[in-house]
This record gives sequence, structure tokens and C-alpha cells, in this order.
Amino acid sequence: MEGLFGKYRALLAPMAGVSDIAFRTLCREAGADMAFTEMVSAKGLSFANEKTRHLLALAEGEEVVAVQLFGHEPAVMASQAAWIEQEMGESLAYLDINMGCPARKIVSKGDGSALMRDPDLAAAIVRAVKAAVAHPVTVKFRRGWGLGDETAPAFARCMEEAGADAVTVHGRFAEQLYRGSADWGVIARVRAAVSVPVVGNGDIRSGADAAAMAAATGCDGVMIARGAEGNPWLFSQVQAALAGQPEPALPTVDERIAMARRHAELLTHREGRNIVRMRKHAMWYLAGLPGAAAARGRINYCTTLDDFDRVFDELLEIAHGARSL
Ligand SMILES: Cc1cc2nc3c(=O)[nH]c(=O)nc-3n(C[C@H](O)[C@H](O)[C@H](O)COP(=O)(O)O)c2cc1C
Repeated sequence: MEGLFGKYRALLAPMAGVSDIAFRTLCREAGADMAFTEMVSAKGLSFANEKTRHLLALAEGEEVVAVQLFGHEPAVMASQAAWIEQEMGESLAYLDINMGCPARKIVSKGDGSALMRDPDLAAAIVRAVKAAVAHPVTVKFRRGWGLGDETAPAFARCMEEAGADAVTVHGRFAEQLYRGSADWGVIARVRAAVSVPVVGNGDIRSGADAAAMAAATGCDGVMIARGAEGNPWLFSQVQAALAGQPEPALPTVDERIAMARRHAELLTHREGRNIVRMRKHAMWYLAGLPGAAAARGRINYCTTLDDFDRVFDELLEIAHGARSL
């Protein structure tokens, strides 16, 4: 499989509230070739909003990151893309434009997947951003807007004509939100419709899934979101499967708890105010472990690293039989 821009093939998806520097660090270490920031509001950046700017911070040792912008005003998108390029310089891998988010608060403003209903405006955004930056510009979108109305192949062509350097397709309609399953056929149809690299996205939960998507669609890269939650190891499995090698063994309980601990440390270290964010990650890491159900309630009250450590210690003791449930 050819990599996106020659070298990126297993990508950590942009995920609002999840793909922060801590999570990106762990996924990159596990084998993700590239990671995206959470989606960044062009409007928020244009107001020099500190919280928005914070989303562009790099992790320690993170050399490059792909930044995802959302918005619907070509001039604002272009000026903020130029600002990001100037601020980040070499640490910017490329700029992605969000045309897939189906959340009501996003589409009601004309952003995210609402742009799939207005391909002319979507194309104007891509043209404006392309004219403003030297970095590659990519677009992420869905199978289409309305249930059953597959517009992605034509939309992809439109994005390519407007100058997009690559596209990512998530095989669900916007109206589907996250329901049902992703259709990988649309990824193949988009692949056939354009000549720029195509990244496939949706429902990759194992290395075998990634290899199957690549084989079925001819996509140039795979993008993973929910499958990596509490499971950064997925990237090592995907890399092995894409290389035609046996997938590494699933992590042990000790490894899962050690990763959860490290995640909590990273979040406290760089994102102190966001330790609350660790609660959902902790649930993901611990899901299915003995004692996890009882630990859930306590995790909801954790506010410090020590609180998390106590829950992790207990679960380790249960796993090793030193404590009963
Ligand atoms: C919590 C969460 C946050 C997300 N945030 C974004 C986002 O900021 N930008 C975006 O393009 N997609 C976002 N998505 C969509 C994912 O990038 C991805 O397209 C989708 O989850 C399908 O991939 P998956 O089946 O691997 O999860 C988000 C998804 C989730 C679950």
C-alpha cells in the first residue's frame, strides 16, 4: 500500500476531546505514522482564543502533527491556516479541513458535514486555504449528508479540482451520526473517482480490519479513531497487519494498567486542568478487567493523579489475586 505523501499510512484521527497531546504521544509511540489535533475552530483562532490556541500545542518529542481546522468562511479559514503555518513552521505536517463532523452545534453553524450540502462553498474554502499556505491541504468528509444519498465520490472530485492534496472518507452518512456500520465500498468508489491519495476511515478495530480495508478499497492510508481509545496498541497491530506480519499479542492486564497510569501522568503533566478528561480514558483502558465495573464509580470522582493511582493499584491487586472483588 502506498503511503499518504509517501510515508503516512496508519493515522490517528482527529477527535475532539480525545486526540490531545497525551493521547497522540501514546498512539505515535505505538506506531501511528501521523496524528491529528482535535478539530480547531478557525473562528476561535481568529479571536486569539487561548483555549483554541492551546489545541495546537505539541507534545514533548512530537516533531510533526497534522492540524484539523473547522469553519465555513473561506477568508477566515485561509487567514487562520496561514497563521498556523507561520506559527508552527516545520512542526506542521499538513492542514486538514473538517467537512465530516455531524454534531448539531457544528452543522447548525454551517461547519463540518454541513459543507457536504454546499460543494461550491466547500470548494471555495479549499481554494482559499490552498492559496494561503504552502503545506498540503487535505479534506475529511463522510459518505454523504442524507441517509442513502452517496455524494462522496462526486464531492471528492470537487475537492480535488479545488486543490485538495488528499481526502479522507468516513463511510457513514452525516445523518447516521455513529449508528450502523461504516460502508467501505464508498472508500473504493472515492479511490476510483480521484487521483490524489485517499485515506479510508470507519470501524477499524484490529490489524486484520485495517488490512481488509486496504485490500478491499485500494486506499492509500487508514485512519483510526474509536478503536484506539484505551487501546493505543491497535497501531502496532495495524502496522504488522499492513506489512503482512503476524499481529503482536494483545496487552496484558499489567500493560493496560501501566499505559493508563502513563496516560494519566501525561495528562496531569501537560494538561493539568484537563485531568477530568482522564476519567473516560481510564474507563476505556480498564473495560472488561476484573473489578472494573466497581471501579467506574470511583473513577468518576478522581481529580488527581494520586486518585487514579489508587484505583489502578487496586485493580492490579485484584488481577494478581492479592485482593478479592
Ligand atoms: C469522540 C470523538 C470525537 C471526534 N472528533 C472529530 C473531530 O474533531 N474531527 C473529525 O474530523 N472527526 C471527528 N470524529 C470522527 C472520527 O475522526 C472518525 O471519523 C469516526 O469516529 C469514524 O472512525 P472510527 O470508526 O475509527 O471511530 C470524532 C469521533 C469521536 C468518537
